[in-house]
Amino acid sequence: KIAVVHGPNLRLLGRREPHVYGSVTLEEIDDALLTLAGGLGAELEIFQSNHEGEILDFLEEVSQRVQGVLINPAGLTHTSVALRDGLLGIGLPVVEVHLSNPAARERFRRHSYVAPVAVGTVAGFGVNSYLFGLRGLAAHLTSSSE
Ligand code: DQA
Repeated sequence: KIAVVHGPNLRLLGRREPHVYGSVTLEEIDDALLTLAGGLGAELEIFQSNHEGEILDFLEEVSQRVQGVLINPAGLTHTSVALRDGLLGIGLPVVEVHLSNPAARERFRRHSYVAPVAVGTVAGFGVNSYLFGLRGLAAHLTSSSE
């Protein structure tokens, strides 16, 4: 069982800066993730919030019933020590994903507070970042339970 977390402003996908994020909606991303999860034998619990504290509360609560976290921390990637501490605190494997490639954008996006506490990061592939990230996390969980 895997938690999927979408950070601030990702509800706006489809109409948010389409030249950067494309036309895919959050609903379409969730549908694609659920389809892939079915094939992988994984169950997903999906959460989106624009509020840092709500994301921290969700992570704390869901950590009791999932084995890993797939997260697009969105803007919190570049600002949130609290999110990084929360992810470390729950002690579960984390995979960080981004639709765009933050390293190829503005300078302030080059630093991620989450990357050092993640198993890995997938960025720049649009919706496929999420799908590659889910595959990577599922493989990581399978190999670490063997
Ligand atoms: C993002 C990249 C972040 O820099 C940005 O703040 C977002 C979206 C992405 O998916 O490309 O909100 O996480």
